[in-house]
Amino acid sequence: MLSDLDQWQAIVATAQQWRRQLHRQPELGWQETQTAAFIRARLDELGITWRACAKTGTLATIAADAPGPHIALRGDIDALPIAEQTDLPYASEVPGLMHACGHDGHTATLLAVGAWLQTQVDRLPGPVTLLFQPAEEGGHGAAAMIADGALKGIDRIYGWHNWPAIPVGQMVCPDGAVMSGNDVFYINVTGRGGHSSQPELCADPVLAASAINLNLQQVVSRRIAPQRPAVLSVTSIMAPSADNVIPDCANMLGTIRFSHPETRAILHQAMQEIVEQTAQAYGVSAELKFELGYGATLNHNAEADQMRSAWTREHGTESLDTKLLMPVMAAEDFSDYLNVIPGAFALVGTDDGVPAHQVSCHSSRYDFNDALIEPVMRLFVDLVGVNR
Ligand code: NI
Repeated sequence: MLSDLDQWQAIVATAQQWRRQLHRQPELGWQETQTAAFIRARLDELGITWRACAKTGTLATIAADAPGPHIALRGDIDALPIAEQTDLPYASEVPGLMHACGHDGHTATLLAVGAWLQTQVDRLPGPVTLLFQPAEEGGHGAAAMIADGALKGIDRIYGWHNWPAIPVGQMVCPDGAVMSGNDVFYINVTGRGGHSSQPELCADPVLAASAINLNLQQVVSRRIAPQRPAVLSVTSIMAPSADNVIPDCANMLGTIRFSHPETRAILHQAMQEIVEQTAQAYGVSAELKFELGYGATLNHNAEADQMRSAWTREHGTESLDTKLLMPVMAAEDFSDYLNVIPGAFALVGTDDGVPAHQVSCHSSRYDFNDALIEPVMRLFVDLVGVNR
């Protein structure tokens, strides 16, 4: 019979193998059929009951009848349309797709937590649901999981993301905003093209687009309270033409980031005014459209404190990162869960000096740091109330 310690170490070692298997077979959001099959096969082997949720998502509950509060732990499972540029022996076997955000690691770690908790099922104070979420990378997987009942009966939810900008062994989990919200915007500027030697007969959409970009840069500085972080970036202006042709139209593209719902509303309103009125001043017409992304991820203070306490109990009082500027301006659909029930989301450092653990997520040279599996298992096991 294996001791608890032997069993723990065996699960950690197995989870690393699972992580590398998942890394070989990345799948895009809403296409995670093999990944879901892999997760469900492991759950079956572990004797953990599960149900499909939002197609490729999976909900697995341990100690369903335990009397205490019902806690959900979330792992995201999807990969990205990036061609992997690593020489890893377990590199992606799917051309053009890659686990470049470490969701392979999040998935394997959550499975490992489940494997351990299943051995401790009689000691769990309340039920624990493992929430394997599809389509985090812009596919609104969390919203679909919620719509399919993922939070029914759940009292609190916790999640995490590996974070290369933080040294390994460190975690950050602030009260309030941890990640930003994001929307994409498109601006179509329609003018009147003609010969470039006769600008007086044209309405130049290239000049108007330039003016719109410059005017939009005043929104964050002049319309948003400085205490509320926001970003507005115009990332593309397309008006293909020739040196002797003023084109008919210009198409602009960009993103906004915000950490407060009110900021999002102000950005939308101010951008609408500026786009319309600048267009008018330049004698062109312009249409602004938003593609809504995710809301800001706003930690609930009590649960953020529980997460920090669990982490420091396991890893010491010096293990909370204080250097990373918060909130991070990237977005995460864990925000959707926190709009429904209390919970918190933490960023766990990966930087151990290995280049693949230092480059940012979504780099073609990124790799999940397997050394995170064990410390994050300890975090979650502590959080759900099991002392090892
Ligand atoms: Ni991610």
